[in-house]
Amino acid sequence: MRTIYFSIILLLSLQSYSIYAEQHHPLAELWNVDDTEVPKLLEIERNLTAIDDILSPILEQDDFISSFGGSYIDMFKIHIVVNTVKFSKRDDLLALPQIKPFQDFLFFKKANHSMSQIKSNFEQIKLQIYLTEPKRVFIFSNMVDNNNFLFFLDGNHNNTEFINATKPFNPTIIYEDNPPVSQNTKRSRYDVDSRELKFKVLGGDGLYNDQSGGVCSVGFWVTDRFNPNEFYIITAGHCFDKDVSRNEFSYAPWGAETPALYIGPMEISMINPYDFGIIYLNGKDVAPTFAIRNDDADQYKELIINDGAPASSVGIHMCKSGHKTHLSCGYVFGLNGIYIEEKDDMKEDLIITNMKSDFGDSGGTVFSFVSPQNLDSVVGRGINFGGGHGIEAAQSLNTIFIELEKLSRYFKLYLGD
Ligand SMILES: *[C@@H]1O[C@H](CO)[C@@H](O)[C@H](O)[C@H]1NC(C)=O
Ligand SMILES: *[C@@H]1O[C@H](CO)[C@@H](O)[C@H](O)[C@H]1NC(C)=O
Ligand SMILES: *[C@@H]1O[C@H](CO)[C@@H](O)[C@H](O)[C@H]1NC(C)=O
Ligand SMILES: *[C@@H]1O[C@H](CO)[C@@H](O)[C@H](O)[C@H]1NC(C)=O
Repeated sequence: MRTIYFSIILLLSLQSYSIYAEQHHPLAELWNVDDTEVPKLLEIERNLTAIDDILSPILEQDDFISSFGGSYIDMFKIHIVVNTVKFSKRDDLLALPQIKPFQDFLFFKKANHSMSQIKSNFEQIKLQIYLTEPKRVFIFSNMVDNNNFLFFLDGNHNNTEFINATKPFNPTIIYEDNPPVSQNTKRSRYDVDSRELKFKVLGGDGLYNDQSGGVCSVGFWVTDRFNPNEFYIITAGHCFDKDVSRNEFSYAPWGAETPALYIGPMEISMINPYDFGIIYLNGKDVAPTFAIRNDDADQYKELIINDGAPASSVGIHMCKSGHKTHLSCGYVFGLNGIYIEEKDDMKEDLIITNMKSDFGDSGGTVFSFVSPQNLDSVVGRGINFGGGHGIEAAQSLNTIFIELEKLSRYFKLYLGD
């Protein structure tokens, strides 16, 4: 937690902006800049991401993997930080024709851990999971801080044995601070327009489990690729309650924990090692959308999903919308996260961020902005899995589609066509 905070403070203190009047866009708030600055910063982030997409795979090649310790985007300094263990390899890297044009955008920072060390330590730490059975811990490689992190959530399990066993692999250990008392009383408008027969359910809206009473959030609307008139909602698999006989879901507006309109049953639910579920749209009064709810804001109230793509870089922004804590944004710290709740309950392929979220946000839409020209437009990245104070993980959307295909279920994001 503390280390993550330091990293953010570092990121924020690098900007030369101070106090601004207009912060309607979620990124203006995150970056603490005026709305008018957002398009340029977003373009910088997008440009650096494109360079990092070329750079990262090269840094993983045999030639470089033991000389560099990964990279991350520092958009306020307009460069990519390349964690550098052996400076003698810098010229070799810069000599590559794919890299040469971007050399002004690379900053070589002294680092202690090479990517090969971080990866091998990560594997060793994973091995210890099976031997010492820790509980309630996130494990990920934090490229900003050039090390593997163990982030323990609150709990009364004694993880001493695991911590002792992973000591030789030098992870940075973080304990969750006291969880905040979250309050969010704003209600979203729930007016079924009498002329319009169906109510539009958006990403981030509440999903009420009719049998268990639990609340989750809508991730994405998808359609069956072979039957485009069949609609489904992707949400978290752990929204399925195995203690009740059926698991049917209704729409729950922001600010209410009661069912408003019937949606349908959860047809597929997975919790290990990926956490996702698929709800079939059976209700007659609900209409699918390709929008995300941001009701609390004065502007950009509905964000439009234009595409889905995996998150590839560390240091970039990530946002989520969910029933409990509504819309919030943060930064990506790791792309290889795993979470162990307890023995035999482990999640993989998690995007690790510091977005704010809480119970009830599970399954909610995780996305990022990509278009400097269109600040309403976003790309879907994943669904909210969960976390704690200072950490929030998303299950990658790409992974979910791949897993569904393994079950011979072929879906695509509903984008309005
Ligand atoms: C982003 O990259 C494009 C193409 O290389 C360039 O024209 C543009 O000036 C860059 N934008 C910023 C803000 O650096
Ligand atoms: C590298 O390790 C040394 C000794 O442990 C430490 O003092 C230094 O701060 C580390 N450097 C970085 C960049 O982490
Ligand atoms: C701590 O780990 C070492 C090996 O790294 C092991 O020899 C020792 O028994 C462990 N101690 C405890 C209390 O688990
Ligand atoms: C935790 O477990 C270790 C051994 O694995 C033991 O030495 C220690 O006293 C335990 N701590 C608590 C608070 O129970």
